[in-house]
Amino acid sequence: MEPPKIHRRRPRYNGKNPRRFEQKYKEHDPARYPDTVQKVLESGKTPAGSHRPIMVAEIQEILAPQPGEIAVDATLGHGGHTVEILPRLRPGGRLFGLDVDPLELPRTEARLRAAGFTEDALVVQQTNFAGLPRVLAAHGLSGADLILADLGCSSMQFDNPARGFSFKLDGPLDLRMNPNKGRPASTLLATLDEAKLAQILVENSDEPHAARIAQSILHAQARQPISTTRALTAAVRAAASGVDGETSVRRVFQALRIEVNEEFAALENFLRVLPGCLNPGGRVAILTFHSGEDRRVKKAFAAGLGAGLFSKVAAEVIRAGSEELRANPRSSSAKLRWAVRSGAK
Ligand SMILES: C[S@@+](CC[C@H](N)C(=O)[O-])C[C@H]1O[C@@H](n2cnc3c(N)ncnc32)[C@H](O)[C@@H]1O
Repeated sequence: MEPPKIHRRRPRYNGKNPRRFEQKYKEHDPARYPDTVQKVLESGKTPAGSHRPIMVAEIQEILAPQPGEIAVDATLGHGGHTVEILPRLRPGGRLFGLDVDPLELPRTEARLRAAGFTEDALVVQQTNFAGLPRVLAAHGLSGADLILADLGCSSMQFDNPARGFSFKLDGPLDLRMNPNKGRPASTLLATLDEAKLAQILVENSDEPHAARIAQSILHAQARQPISTTRALTAAVRAAASGVDGETSVRRVFQALRIEVNEEFAALENFLRVLPGCLNPGGRVAILTFHSGEDRRVKKAFAAGLGAGLFSKVAAEVIRAGSEELRANPRSSSAKLRWAVRSGAK
């Protein structure tokens, strides 16, 4: 007997089209509503609950996946790069997909399994990429042939107001990629004095108005603890004239996100263990989204080249082409660098 069909009422919203992330039920279900998703993509936007992979062709060329090889997608996200790389490793090859996000990772794994990526081809693990040596060792591997890291947060994280990543959407001031670990940004803010907050804004985001913004945030915090993205945004905007409006707000959110998730420490640890995780002749590609990340990658690759650990590294960063920039404005801040592990394959 056929199971009874469950009728689900669509979410209620005002107006013709849903505006809130959770109301965009068609965008959350691309298999059922491909036309809606296509229209959103054509308008240069990212459908709710999804992520558009950046510089896919450039990354494929750099990593050059071959049948039988071992790959690591250190930041699995929506699996956008993985679905392009993994078929080229088959037959025989395997991809390890890592991510710290316990909310999105099971969704991505379910989607990839439903698309036919079986456990012998795709290993999914919730872990920080700094722990890559342990992941490889646990599977009896001494290294991988190709490694990709696409840093920062995904559109699913960014666009979901409940996670507090975006200053454009009101929500709790959380900003954690792994909400089961560490403390939300609101709790961190409550522990900072003005000097420390200003230091975080300078070190993590190169914020030129750091002192003035830190003062404004802490004044607001003294009146009432800042617990929402809207309250933080208002406190930054109130930081007198001369502050670069939206740009400063974006930089403040970025600086707190980096602090809350200890992103620089994770990246530095990853870069330190990286050469040891690559087989001879192995390739690595890293996508960064701001200067603090790119500086660290550039420096580590140059040091690895000097030490003879890498045989070649990118001389210049690679940027998204004009077509991609038009189709996906989120690619505009992306910088891609690569390196090749020394030794013959
Ligand atoms: C830009 S997204 C990756 C998108 C993916 N390449 C795609 O095309 O779908 C970055 C992902 O990296 C994860 N991430 C950030 N820092 C991480 C870390 N230290 N270890 C593992 N995953 C991390 C985030 O949770 C997020 O899902």
